[in-house]
Amino acid sequence: MNQERMNIVIVGHVDHGKSTVIGRLLADTDSLPKGKLEQVKRMCADNSRPFEYAFLLDALKDEQAQGITIDSARCFFKTTKRHYIVIDAPGHIEFLKNMVTGAARAEAALLVIDANEGIQENSRRHGYLLSMLGIRQVAILVNKMDLVDYDETVFRNIVSEYTVFLNKLDVHPQAFVPISAREGDNIVSNADSMKWYTGASVLEQLDEFRKEPGKTRLPFRLPLQDVYKFTANSDDRRIFAGTIETGSVSVGDEVLFLPSGKRSRVKTIEEFNTPQRVSASAGEAVGVTLDTQIYVKPGEMMIKSTDESANVGTRFKANIFWMGKSPLVKGKNYKLKLASARRQLSVVDIVHVVDASALEDSARKQQVDRHDVAECIFEVDKPLAFDLISDIEESGRFVIVDDYEIAGGGIVLENASHDGARVGDEWLNAWALGAVSRNEREGRLQQTANFVLMTGPEGTGKRDLARALEKQLFESERLAFYAGMYSLNKNDNDTVDGGSTTGQTRRGDAVQRLGEMARIMTDAGQIFISTAHDLDDYDLDLLQAVAGKERPVIVNVGDKLFNRFEPEVELEANPNTHEAVAQIKRVLEQRRAG
Ligand code: GTP
Ligand code: MG
Repeated sequence: MNQERMNIVIVGHVDHGKSTVIGRLLADTDSLPKGKLEQVKRMCADNSRPFEYAFLLDALKDEQAQGITIDSARCFFKTTKRHYIVIDAPGHIEFLKNMVTGAARAEAALLVIDANEGIQENSRRHGYLLSMLGIRQVAILVNKMDLVDYDETVFRNIVSEYTVFLNKLDVHPQAFVPISAREGDNIVSNADSMKWYTGASVLEQLDEFRKEPGKTRLPFRLPLQDVYKFTANSDDRRIFAGTIETGSVSVGDEVLFLPSGKRSRVKTIEEFNTPQRVSASAGEAVGVTLDTQIYVKPGEMMIKSTDESANVGTRFKANIFWMGKSPLVKGKNYKLKLASARRQLSVVDIVHVVDASALEDSARKQQVDRHDVAECIFEVDKPLAFDLISDIEESGRFVIVDDYEIAGGGIVLENASHDGARVGDEWLNAWALGAVSRNEREGRLQQTANFVLMTGPEGTGKRDLARALEKQLFESERLAFYAGMYSLNKNDNDTVDGGSTTGQTRRGDAVQRLGEMARIMTDAGQIFISTAHDLDDYDLDLLQAVAGKERPVIVNVGDKLFNRFEPEVELEANPNTHEAVAQIKRVLEQRRAG
């Protein structure tokens, strides 16, 4: 017997026929408990109300839900190919919550549109949600075809209108199926009422959907939960323990811990109270001992070096569903839980917010309220190993804790970290350089090259200070060069794209270009001076990676945004130019001496 299972979700505008479709699927695949259909039909007759297939669901729910709380009604039916678990989401808030927290993850979706009413508000919203949740396998059921005399033109019009809309969301439905759920047309087999339609029935289409690979077939991921030390008999082995989320591991495999990058080989696999084994796979809680002595902490991710690697970084783009009492805001620290890792988390950018109760869209909103869905860029305090939701769900999903409570759930869409070393090297490799070293140039110019970078909030007088410094250095026979990039010195709201998704990458690009400029100027022996608003740790990391090994002389004017870097000079907003210049010059002299 085939045991393959697939989770599907059914969505659509109110009353367009979701429950009827499910009722039909259950009835027409003989998946109902014996006598259920007759019982419900009789009950309807007794109460002289017309029978509805949707009533079957209520009847089942009453039976199933005794004493159990379930957010969504789950129904089961099977084809010769596989078993289906269909989730009838009662409302999109519950649906989103279940999807994002992993309580229910659908591999495919059916979206129902009433042929008579046409595309409604929720037909669009739900299309958007499917796209957001990364559900790529979608079939659109154009229902109640009986109400429009099974007219092909009505169907075609809905197909073309909705296709245009979905393609904008990058959702490409596998099929549009014209159906009448009430009459059972095109549900399990093709109906005589719509001879013009030769495509798959709903059931056939479901069987067409591809099953995601089983957890065991995915790359190996073991989030490290604990490290135990044997104490008996001066045995100094360590056991690395955790539950295998995906994939499998065998004795002799070379393993790698992320983010530390430490490697070793599996010596034994131990399981509580059972004899040693040669391999273990997804779902099993195991302890692993290694060939060599290495020190790694719980929270790291053990992977196999022959498998596809996980992402490592400090920044990622994610979709989140917020449930917190207070809104998610920038500038506040939260706690991230991803697999066994714990990190401090903050929001770098709120790219896009959708109000899930109204499902209204706001690109401008700068906080994420309870029940909002949002696309954000997050930063963690230390490198983190993770996967993208599209690759491995188990390590591509996280929870945000605020004030000791779970306040949000999210799925990782993209690694948004830069690889500083790579960026630096790439740019260097783009130039052929001469034979005169920076040292020789500095000797000739009788000065030490430096990169003086002024940062702090907007409007604190950085540019005037930079120009004054350039002038004074020049007058004291130093070669100083000031250049400030417009894009790094403008108010956020002035940016060309109004701070949308691309705003993030453009700023990154600008920071990188500034780094390159600094590198050129300092290699040429100059004292290069520049200014940029609101640089944070991430920007400074990137700048340093590109600009060269040595640190820029950071002059912070006004409030400070970065933490990991220590500014050489800290000034109040709009400082006294004369004193400030003198102070910076002293630091430059000290650097020269030291
Ligand atoms: P909610 O759960 O309330 O959002 O509704 P739903 O989408 O589950 O719709 P449901 O299946 O309850 O159907 C709503 C109404 O449409 C019911 O009265 C159904 O009998 C009717 N209906 C469903 N499918 C068809 C159909 O193919 N043809 C006709 N004529 N009526 C249908
Ligand atoms: Mg319903």
